[in-house]
Amino acid sequence: MLPCQRHLFDIPDDVAYLNCAYMSPLMKPVIEAGATGLARKAHPWEITPDKFFSGADQFRATAAQLIDCSPDDLAIVPSASYGIATAARNLPVKQGQSILVLDEQFPSNYYPWQRLAEGNGASLKVVTWPADHDWTAAVLESLTADVAIAALPHVQWTSGGRLDLARIAEACRKQGTALALDLTQSLGALPFSVRDVQPDFAVAASYKWLLAPYSIGLLYVAPRWQGGFPLEENWIQRANARDFSSLILYTEGYDSGARRFDMGERSNFALIPAAIRAMEQLLDWKVPEISETIGALNRHLAGAAAELGFSSPPEHLRAPHYLCLRRNTGIPRAFPELLAGKKVFVSVRGSSIRVTPHLYNSTLDAERLISCLRQTASLS
Ligand SMILES: Cc1ncc(COP(=O)(O)O)c(C=O)c1O
Repeated sequence: MLPCQRHLFDIPDDVAYLNCAYMSPLMKPVIEAGATGLARKAHPWEITPDKFFSGADQFRATAAQLIDCSPDDLAIVPSASYGIATAARNLPVKQGQSILVLDEQFPSNYYPWQRLAEGNGASLKVVTWPADHDWTAAVLESLTADVAIAALPHVQWTSGGRLDLARIAEACRKQGTALALDLTQSLGALPFSVRDVQPDFAVAASYKWLLAPYSIGLLYVAPRWQGGFPLEENWIQRANARDFSSLILYTEGYDSGARRFDMGERSNFALIPAAIRAMEQLLDWKVPEISETIGALNRHLAGAAAELGFSSPPEHLRAPHYLCLRRNTGIPRAFPELLAGKKVFVSVRGSSIRVTPHLYNSTLDAERLISCLRQTASLS
């Protein structure tokens, strides 16, 4: 268990921020790294050609430790949707086949597959919301021979339900189904290993559980797809990019590994150092310990909320860092206003309250939320 890390963040004492699944706050050293990087452009004459490559290489090396793959297998992308669009551009689907997604899947991991299916005479197959909260069993049941691609998250974002990706991946391999993963709501807070799961593609936007800035993320591309088509054709993906004087000697060749899938201007001098600093901190804390520490706080919250009539998925079927509370009688309309007045930040969506703390939260924050839940009895 890790001690509370609030001192690394700029969170006022009267704010109980329990909404990392929406957007994490940046740590002070991450802001410093980003600001230093941004200021570099005040002196562009000091930005030598090698700087276009060194930051990106360091980003790949650091991210590779978090996701457990070779740095060569990572591309730098601006968003989850960019990574998913890259996967959809390269994974084949034939007429009559289907693409598997979850019920209420995040739109960035739904629309590209819908478009791909439409364009190929295929269909989307939606895994029905499992009444018993067991998303893994529901996926395995839906994984019939017609499924060409399973496009899945590690954590279903509106329930907190956790998928057993190792089991699902094994079933996919057995029948030749490609596996494309959106790890945006899990990487950094829930242990994951490319070596164990062996997906075809896996993407994570980094502004949530990677504690990094907005507009940067990573895309894992399995070696078997590294000869594929990138979304963009830009200069820095090409084999001759390191020699600035020969850029117009156009080449068919790409840089090695997954680098061909990098977004344009991937050498972002502000975002890259900030994201590296954030990932270094996560590696220092260690993801299993982060998961366990946040999990303990959520367990406490789930127990207290249950006494007040709120239910949540059973602990063994949900991600430890991600707690969705529901109540049969619904959530009073005045609840968001009550939370705002008390400066307690969670996500209220329909009949669900999504609570996603991180290491900056203490039991004091949890008590403030519990006090708000208690007051729901007096609200209409
Ligand atoms: C599951 C999931 N994937 C992806 C994203 C972000 O997508 P994008 O990077 O395309 O904006 C979110 C944001 O809430 C999310 O919850």
